Amino acid sequence: MQLFLDTADYQSIKKLYETGIVDGITTNPTNLRKDGANPKEAIKKICELMQGKPVSVQVTESDLDAIYAQAQEIATISDNVVVKIPCYQPYYPVIQKLLGQNVPLNITLVFSLPQALAMCKLGATYISPFLGRWDDIDADTSALLAEIVDMKNEYDFGTKVLAASLRDVPSVHQAINAGSDVATISPALFEKMLKHPLTEQGMEKFSQDWNKLGISQFP
Ligand code: G3P
Repeated sequence: MQLFLDTADYQSIKKLYETGIVDGITTNPTNLRKDGANPKEAIKKICELMQGKPVSVQVTESDLDAIYAQAQEIATISDNVVVKIPCYQPYYPVIQKLLGQNVPLNITLVFSLPQALAMCKLGATYISPFLGRWDDIDADTSALLAEIVDMKNEYDFGTKVLAASLRDVPSVHQAINAGSDVATISPALFEKMLKHPLTEQGMEKFSQDWNKLGISQFP
């Protein structure tokens, strides 16, 4: 399973990219606004840092022609840009057209199995079920991700399932178990999920025991 960082914060990306386990980035208008920099320049810098790994960048227009033109423009920012478009039924023709022109798309705001099926049928590069936002309004998403993955495998679609809007470590655990192709995770959750209190306790114990030997050089 690939791990993406869900952020536009360059410093966080730089720090966590050094772990060697970051396979891509997802951005959205919210995290680009938080970053506060010129969005195009921010994206360029992130794309360069990611060395060919995918960086999702969302359209902000709402008129069909404008979305189409903007998506093409976004795709030229860098070779590793994936254009993010909401899974909104009126946008289907634009989604189909862009995919037909080999523009890689990450379809965002997916909340149901039929929406996921529709996007797989159009040949989307990625589909992003937003699990946390569904949970926020008290929906039970425990089965949805696994159902989407099963559907994709059952019909042999080439689309990658990208579990998004993950709020806590158990939801990352759930994405791994569901066989999601990708999980996109905020930097804070990314750091949290890699820590374990027993690892830290174990290290402390080894260190204390070793220090008791009183050896200054080893080996
Ligand atoms: O990639 C999806 C993510 O940006 C949405 O997360 O926390 O705003 O629901 P959140």
